[in-house]
Amino acid sequence: MPLFKKTLYSTDFSPLAEVALDYVKKLKEAGEEEVVVVHVVDDLSVELPDGTDLIKEKDVFKILPEVDQEYVVNLIEKLNSIKEILEDENLKVKLYLKYGNIPKQIVSVADEESVNIIVMGAHGKGLLSEILLGSVSTDVIRHAKCPVLIVKKREE
Ligand SMILES: Nc1ncnc2c1ncn2[C@@H]1O[C@H](COP(=O)(O)OP(=O)(O)O)[C@@H](O)[C@H]1O
Ligand SMILES: [Mg+2]
Repeated sequence: MPLFKKTLYSTDFSPLAEVALDYVKKLKEAGEEEVVVVHVVDDLSVELPDGTDLIKEKDVFKILPEVDQEYVVNLIEKLNSIKEILEDENLKVKLYLKYGNIPKQIVSVADEESVNIIVMGAHGKGLLSEILLGSVSTDVIRHAKCPVLIVKKREE
């Protein structure tokens, strides 16, 4: 049984999350077969139940205001392009677009999907990004039950 068969890749679509995607691809060398890609939104103009999946729960999508629908469609497109990239590597891919508390939802999908490892960036687009570990990565490290691979900025 390979050590890292199933990966959770958590992305905010930032440049560093893109660097993290390279490591997701490299994990194939450690036996990776499947990748669960997760993005969490917490900034819609309406409140939804924590953990709502905006890809799977089409009925919820339909009741969203138009601005939110456009935003969500754009995020789904971004997730789909990551899916294509990973499928080109012959990996099985599953997408989640969750609503709610960001680190909580990431850890919850990791548990539900019984992933072997979480791959994410050390920070997002924050100002202090070079120095500090971001709040999402800090919280995921704290609560995850599996190993977490934190990707720092690309080595020059
Ligand atoms: N909304 C999100 N959905 C999924 N993953 C996220 C989200 N926000 C951040 N991440 C992941 O966490 C990493 C660290 O980001 P974060 O902790 O938010 O740093 P910062 O505080 O600098 O924005 C990102 O590179 C990304 O992998
Ligand atoms: Mg952030």
